Order: sequence, then structure tokens, then C-alpha cells
Amino acid sequence: MSSTPIILGIESSCDETAAAVLVNGVVRSNVIAGQDVHRLWGGVVPELASRAHQENIVPVVAEALKNAGVTKEELHGIAVTNGPGLMGALLVGTCFARSMAQALNVPLLAVNHMQAHVLAHFIQDGTDRIPPEFPFLNLTVSGGHTLIVLVRSPLDMEVLGTTVDDAAGEAFDKGAKVLGLPYPGGPLIDQYSKGGDPKKFKLPNPQIPGLDMSFSGVKTAFNGLVRMGAIKDPDFVERERYNLCASLQQCIVDILLQKLSKAGHSHSIPRIAISGGVSANRALREQVQQLADREGWTVHIPPLSYCTDNGAMIAMAGHFLFQAGQFAALDVVPYAR
Ligand code: KG4
Ligand code: ZN
Repeated sequence: MSSTPIILGIESSCDETAAAVLVNGVVRSNVIAGQDVHRLWGGVVPELASRAHQENIVPVVAEALKNAGVTKEELHGIAVTNGPGLMGALLVGTCFARSMAQALNVPLLAVNHMQAHVLAHFIQDGTDRIPPEFPFLNLTVSGGHTLIVLVRSPLDMEVLGTTVDDAAGEAFDKGAKVLGLPYPGGPLIDQYSKGGDPKKFKLPNPQIPGLDMSFSGVKTAFNGLVRMGAIKDPDFVERERYNLCASLQQCIVDILLQKLSKAGHSHSIPRIAISGGVSANRALREQVQQLADREGWTVHIPPLSYCTDNGAMIAMAGHFLFQAGQFAALDVVPYAR
């Protein structure tokens, strides 16, 4: 087995078709094709996502290989997101990766998407970013998941807490939808929040036991606040857009940080990290840094390009699976949840 593995990573679980090449954990290329087709629908339309992946996957993989200066014959393994995600979308990536692994006679590396979000911290990209030491606590926040994970080693993770209903990203996206903003709303809420007062509107902070979280009450309360406001005053949303965004964002960030802080204390682990699409959020990034400074903990926040879905994190997870000799059967079945 090669001691400097060259791994192709392929991601197609949701609405990004992405591919990347890592040489011994160092990123050589990272190509992402987004899908504008969902913008006007207020969320990802599964059928449209699958079709877009089908169109994009060949050119995206070709570009990743070209940008890396690597031929397919030089690859030591093909890593692919095997779940969780939209089944039709996953099938495009996994069928492609299975066929490629079979044709090239190299191992197939079946990656869990949420594990890959955590392993994004280990991608080497020529900067002086230091990877976390084990064990550490990772708040993994994406469009479909919200997890507090105890990371003992690259392939040994335990979920300590999760949302009991909606994900944090869902609360951002649906909050944006109520305001008439296109999908994905998280980045727009982030942008508008800069000019708003986070204390202007009070939203509920659900008291869920342990390290679990809840966002459906926040979503409902925000929906009610906006609709009631608009009934009383047709200009309400326009006038209060910035304050509404800032208040929603702060409410979500408060819930996330309370639980991350609690996890750090209850597990006596002074190393915290965030990853996943929502970790691109400016307020979350700033306030997680402040939490770590206050407590004297170390903190790891990935560069923006490795927060939202990308192929490099899949290749990184594939790198660890390759090193551990954990190869998937070519008929491995993807899982939606
Ligand atoms: O990890 P990701 O790219 O895809 C999934 O695995 O779901 O996460 C996408 C989620 C979406 O809900 C999107 O609105 C949210 O991440 N997001 C943000 C920001 N950038 C992306 N949420 C808040 N602030 C942001 N800057
Ligand atoms: Zn993701």
C-alpha cells in the first residue's frame, strides 16, 4: 500500500457536485459545481438535484484531476459520500465512484458525510493551520444535521448530542424563506445580520435536557413574528429585515454555543471545533472563538472553503479509511439517514 496515498474524493449528497484530489492529505485540487436550480424553490428539490449531479459529475471529476496534475491511473483510492443525504443524489456519486474504482482496480472508500465534515480540520492546504489534538469536541452544523461529536481519533467518533427536530441550517434556511429570501438562506441571513440589532426581537431558547438541541420552536416563533408583523404593518419585513436576521441568527448561535460550552465542561475536554455549512456563519465563528478565549480552550475553525460541502473533506476521510485498510465492497449500498 502506498505511504503517500493519492485519493480522489467525490461528493454528491445534496446540492453540490464536488471532487478533489489529496496527495497524502495535502489538497491538490478542490472543484465544486453548485446548483442554482433550487434557488427559487426555497429548498433543495431532490429530483432536480439528481439530474444536476448527473450532468456535472463527469466534468467536475475531470477538472479535479486536471487541476491536481494527476492522471486517473495514478489514483490509489476513490472516496465517495455514501450517506447520509438525498438517495437519488447519492446514487449518482456512488455509482460513478464504484464504476471508477472497478475500472481502475483500486479500493472504494465509503465515506460518512458528517464524519467528513469533522475531518475537514485535517485537510492540509499549505497554510500553517494546526489540526486538532485528540480527543476534541466538534459542533457539526449543516443543512440537515446538528451534532456535538466527541472525536477520539479520525475514525472513532461518538455523537453526544443532536437536534431533536430540525437542524440549525434548516432554521436559517426556513427563516430566510419567510423573509422572501432565496435558498440557501443561511449566507443571506449572515449578510443582513451585520446591519441589525441581535437583541431587537426575542425568540425562544428551548430548554432541552443534556446536549440535545431543538430548532423547530425557533422556526415557528420566527414565522409567527414575521407574519404577525406583516399583518399589522405591510412594510414590517422591509423595515426590520436587518434586525429580524440578526435576532434569528443570534438565537440559533446562542443555542449552539450553550450546548458546546456545556459539552466542554461536562466532558472536561478543553478543545472545541466547529464544521459543516453553518460553521461558515460569521457570528458563530466569532462567538465560538470568544467562548474558547474565555475558557482558555483551544479552538479549530476551518477556512470557509472547507465548511460547506466540498470534495476535499471526502478525500480526507477517504485518506484515513485508506490508511486503516477500511475498503468498501463495490456493491456497498448508500444510506439516506
Ligand atoms: O454542510 P452544508 O454545505 O450541506 C449539508 O450537508 O447540508 O450546509 C448547508 C447549510 C445550509 O443550511 C446553509 O444555509 C448553511 O449551511 N450555511 C450558512 C452559512 N453558509 C451556509 N448558515 C448560516 N450562515 C452562513 N454563512
Ligand atoms: Zn454537508
